[in-house]
Amino acid sequence: MRNDIKEILFTTEQIEEKAAQLAKELEVDYAGKKPILLGLLKGSIPFIGDLMKHMNMPIQIEFMDVSSYHGGTTSSGQVKILKDLDISVENRHIIIVEDIVDTGFTLTKVIALLKHRGAASVEVVTMLDKPEGRVVEMEPKYIGFTIPKAFVVGYGLDYDEYYRNLPYVGILKEEVYMK
Ligand code: XMP
Ligand code: MG
Repeated sequence: MRNDIKEILFTTEQIEEKAAQLAKELEVDYAGKKPILLGLLKGSIPFIGDLMKHMNMPIQIEFMDVSSYHGGTTSSGQVKILKDLDISVENRHIIIVEDIVDTGFTLTKVIALLKHRGAASVEVVTMLDKPEGRVVEMEPKYIGFTIPKAFVVGYGLDYDEYYRNLPYVGILKEEVYMK
């Protein structure tokens, strides 16, 4: 798998340090509340795992699966809910956990839905932000690293469902998705 990676952007150590730092920020900002960490499947799995173990406070873990990608490397703008929540979010503080924000379509849709369902607050923590890819206005409150407009894999991020298990974030060689 390492042979398919052009460049490593963030090492395991850098990512884990950043996750711990973000967790501490969340701990301060949500003190006295019992927020829901809402992971978007499947990309947020490693990140939510690293975040939650550093949050020394009552948190609830939930997941949703929404998809705007169909196996390629560009967003379709059509956001589908593949797996919905099975709990009420009414009057709850929600922290959406994302692997990466690109066009902003996915989060815009999920935030609107959660607010419509009566969430007390909705914020986003994302490990990576690709602001050059933005099509709709969307500013995540908590950002790990800002990256240029390259297609990245690892630490939850996939290309055609593979590479999610890489413990670092890297840029995929173009020849891998051109063939
Ligand atoms: P939007 O465009 O809705 O996209 O903000 C968010 C989702 O798109 C996927 N995404 C990527 N996945 N490498 C990936 O493996 C990338 O560089 C990339 N950019 C966007 C991702 O699933 C994210 O949740
Ligand atoms: Mg995703």
